[in-house]
Amino acid sequence: MSQSSSRPAPSLTSSDLFAAFDALTPGQARARGSAKWTERPNAVISAWVAEMDLGTAPAVTAALRHAVDDALFGYMPTPVWRACRSAVIDFHRDSFGWDIPEEDVSLLPDVLSSLRAIISRMTRPGSPIIAPTPAYMPFLRIPGALDREVIEVPALRGDGVSAPVWSLDLEGIETAMAAGAGLLMLCNPWNPVGRVLSAAELDAVAELSAKHGVIVFADEIHSSLVLPGGAQHICYASRPGADPALTFTATSASKGWNIPGLHCAQLIASGQARARFNADPLCSSLPGSASILGAIATTAALAEGRGWNEAVREYLRGTLETITGRLNGIDGASVTMPEATYLTWIDFSGALADGRITGAPAEFLEREAGVSMNEGVTFGSDYAAFCRLNLATGRGIADEAADRITAALA
Ligand SMILES: Cc1ncc(COP(=O)(O)O)c(C=O)c1O
Repeated sequence: MSQSSSRPAPSLTSSDLFAAFDALTPGQARARGSAKWTERPNAVISAWVAEMDLGTAPAVTAALRHAVDDALFGYMPTPVWRACRSAVIDFHRDSFGWDIPEEDVSLLPDVLSSLRAIISRMTRPGSPIIAPTPAYMPFLRIPGALDREVIEVPALRGDGVSAPVWSLDLEGIETAMAAGAGLLMLCNPWNPVGRVLSAAELDAVAELSAKHGVIVFADEIHSSLVLPGGAQHICYASRPGADPALTFTATSASKGWNIPGLHCAQLIASGQARARFNADPLCSSLPGSASILGAIATTAALAEGRGWNEAVREYLRGTLETITGRLNGIDGASVTMPEATYLTWIDFSGALADGRITGAPAEFLEREAGVSMNEGVTFGSDYAAFCRLNLATGRGIADEAADRITAALA
């Protein structure tokens, strides 16, 4: 079996990477054939689904190439999942100061499969599920598919210097918990608003969870995309107040290294939560569905691809600063610079109010500007005036997206 560490990947400097990203054109991005660039054929610029146009770390590509050469396409060998588990533990210790015992980590095919299984098997039958909104779209659909009610708790919107500052409505969450909710879906960093939740917010959630006996599903898939020079990600389960019996963390290298199609995420749970998860036939079957190539890629990403991820975050920060500045210059649009992720959450209320946008804003801007974004209402019923714009692309493409939106609203 090939060991990626024995065959080092070529190293690229940040300036090589940035030059390659800057040079990317929409034609090249489309020719690669990603879902992002091919599923919306009418768009000139595709900026919707959360994929990056920036490739992945050379260490990941090299590890996958070796696996392909060795036709390593079978079932998961023990050394492969163990190496992946060690890489996950090392990454969390080094990046977030959280020491995780080995037995607390298991592989998953993806984050959402664990959310489905935990809702259906670990929560009180029939109990509603809390989604702080705006929420990653499947959070609003999955409970309904499992015959559960979703309680949307809209974020508090504070006034920032040029754009809103989003925070959890803890009172609203408590009301939903007191009404019998079984689980809170806590997305941190928060897609789509890009917030990194503070220790105080996490501690308040932990207190409420313990008080009302509500499970917290901490989705930390975006933790490897915190932008440099600002907030520091804190793992919910690492907070002293988070009750292990009520806490599940799901994470993945899929966002930070752009490998969601390889299907390997991780579930971190300890104590009673881990015991219940392992004892349940549906939950305990999930590790067996993680992909061998995903585990190999994840190990390479977390063990050898951190430099690439750092460079990408630096590049994203520059793009996000430039483009949020440009979008805030448009009369009738307002957007907050994210602390993490490559996603921007744009409020077009002004342009809707004065009639420059008519109808659903993402549909309007795909038609009039050629820029394909996600419709705000899919993130929660309060957000019909919003769009989510994905800026994980070359600077030239991001600039063209801003040019086109600006021109459509002139
Ligand atoms: C917050 C969040 N959770 C989960 C997912 C999907 O993860 P997976 O493909 O591992 O199910 C995404 C994808 O964009 C996401 O943004």
